[in-house]
Amino acid sequence: MAKVDVKFSPHKAFAKEAHVATKAALSRMVDEASEDVVSFWEGQARELAWFAPWRKPFVWKHPHAQWFVGGTTNASMNCLDRHLGGWRKSKAAIIWEGEPGETRTLTYQQLHAEVCRAANALLKLGVQRGNVVAIYMGMVPEAIVAMLACARIGATHNVVFGGFSSEALKERMNDSNAVALITQDAAWRRGDLVHLKAAADAALKGCKSVQHVIVLQRTSEKTAMKLGRDHWWHEILAGASRTNEPAKLPSEHPLFILYTSGSTGKPKGILHTTGGYLTQVAYSAKLVFDLKEDDVYFCTADIGWITGHSYIVYGPLLNGATIVMYEGAPNWPEPNRFWDIIERHGVTIFYTAPTAIRAFIKWGESWPAKHDLSSLRLLGTVGEPINPEVWMWYHSVIGKQRCPIVDTWWQTETGAIMISPVPGATTTKPGTATKPLPGIAVDVVRKDGTSCDVNEGGLLVVKHPWPSMLRTIYGNDVRYREAYWSEFPKTRKHPGWYFTGDGAKRDKDGYIWIIGRVDDVVNVSGHRLGTAEIESALVSHKLVAEAAVVARPDELKGHALVAFVSLKSSAKGLNTDKLREELRALVAKEIGHFAKPDEVRFAESLPKTRSGKIMRRLLREIVSGFGVTGDVSTLEDMSVLERLHKGDEE
Ligand code: PRX
Repeated sequence: MAKVDVKFSPHKAFAKEAHVATKAALSRMVDEASEDVVSFWEGQARELAWFAPWRKPFVWKHPHAQWFVGGTTNASMNCLDRHLGGWRKSKAAIIWEGEPGETRTLTYQQLHAEVCRAANALLKLGVQRGNVVAIYMGMVPEAIVAMLACARIGATHNVVFGGFSSEALKERMNDSNAVALITQDAAWRRGDLVHLKAAADAALKGCKSVQHVIVLQRTSEKTAMKLGRDHWWHEILAGASRTNEPAKLPSEHPLFILYTSGSTGKPKGILHTTGGYLTQVAYSAKLVFDLKEDDVYFCTADIGWITGHSYIVYGPLLNGATIVMYEGAPNWPEPNRFWDIIERHGVTIFYTAPTAIRAFIKWGESWPAKHDLSSLRLLGTVGEPINPEVWMWYHSVIGKQRCPIVDTWWQTETGAIMISPVPGATTTKPGTATKPLPGIAVDVVRKDGTSCDVNEGGLLVVKHPWPSMLRTIYGNDVRYREAYWSEFPKTRKHPGWYFTGDGAKRDKDGYIWIIGRVDDVVNVSGHRLGTAEIESALVSHKLVAEAAVVARPDELKGHALVAFVSLKSSAKGLNTDKLREELRALVAKEIGHFAKPDEVRFAESLPKTRSGKIMRRLLREIVSGFGVTGDVSTLEDMSVLERLHKGDEE
């Protein structure tokens, strides 16, 4: 691959109109924040509406942060009611497009009315402040309505991505002790229906805590409804009032739980609270996307991931923006769907993932060429490192060399964007998320905690707590401490830092280049997965003795998954092709189709250290095709390695 070594300073025309218009203005913000970071964030928090002001802006008891303590507020009130006083009430909040082609627009006033009705319906069912409500839906406006309705009454939402299987939904509802579920009959995806209610029914068989299920009718599919438990959305909302007083919630009230993958088989329920989260998502959405009153903002993420939470729902709505929400696949009915949407709705800001851009490249330039993309003024990317060649394509073919690109680094855990260009002020370089936003203290350090030299690879850490940081792992604070705070622990001499799980380096200009995860978390087509979760699905098969899943680089998906499986002796002589398919189907059942390994390789045994630990590093090297280069002195049986190399199969 050609090395792209260029810089792009913000276009004068863009910078002139931008919220932060010069490098000097950005430096002033950075300085102001580093002089007194807490009062910097207080300034941002004052941009929101509060029922009662906070008494203490920040309380830190390592590793637990509290922001704006004593203040009371409400996320739904901030996203909606605040905009109803003037002309914004008639502004489009959501422009929605269904996959089959229908469109719907909800103004702020209409969205407010829907959210109030849904909030009243939840209250009528007995859902209370502090209860957890699961949401298992596709990309329909009602998914946003459901989230904001929960937030309005102080229920904590737990959105489960619609691509997850019933097993995965069950696990997430049980772990969070959800009392209600909001779902839909089916969702459109690539011309097909995904039967969400049927999957939810299967999940509910193993979930005792859920008392009520609200079902949106999206299609004309026949749908089984359980008397007493299941309620149609349209029926239960029909009689509900269009007004509802938002609950006055403490700043630290839990807003949502969102499950993500870690390095063990069990997903982590990342807990975010209200005041700090809202403050930082509102701030970052305005700063990074340079949101203006007349923007039409289109983020292609799914609502089931953190990007959907922070930059489809909360960030844009807090800023009173117009969002475009699209239900289906980017290549349905043809690979120009996004470009068509941009042209028809006059999208000005487009935020997507490198994996999607790689697919656009593969589909060819002729698709965007058919459309007038001149409404675009800013492009964004998130979720994985973007290779410079892909960045350049995005810049020239979609951005016509006019639009700044914001490569935004952040995580489910960080809640909001942490490292990113500020488009009117930062000179960008293809492949780097550039520098931390004002108020964010990140560093690239060695294992001993000393800062790395220029271009030296190290670990990415956050050195000061930030408002939208996760508060804990729901129900498992021990794991929270271990996962994020044990690499650089607090000691008498050390304050203790948050470890991101990412490797990175910093170049001579201080720009941060993300190298990728250093743990067993992988990114497949923009979906974050833990290899241990997939392994635990595989070993639940009665013929599997052991499994190890590793990732290899993949041009389209970022990473592809390769599962090494050793079988029990009872599998001798069985048809391995059939077994391979059975195992892939098992992963789809336990987690979801998107987690199916690309390859299943059978091996007599897996390489292990003398203490019995599977040497995943060796497997990674084998699948990358570079040959085994590292130290193999702890490998128990060298012949295993030779056989794996030969592609030995049982
Ligand atoms: O490895 C980093 C990668 O995605 C991880 C976080 O995944 P998730 O919690 O699913 O959130 C994704 C959406 C925010 C990070 O640890 N990542 C995210 N953004 C970038 C990135 N890697 C490189 N460049 C990015 N811009």
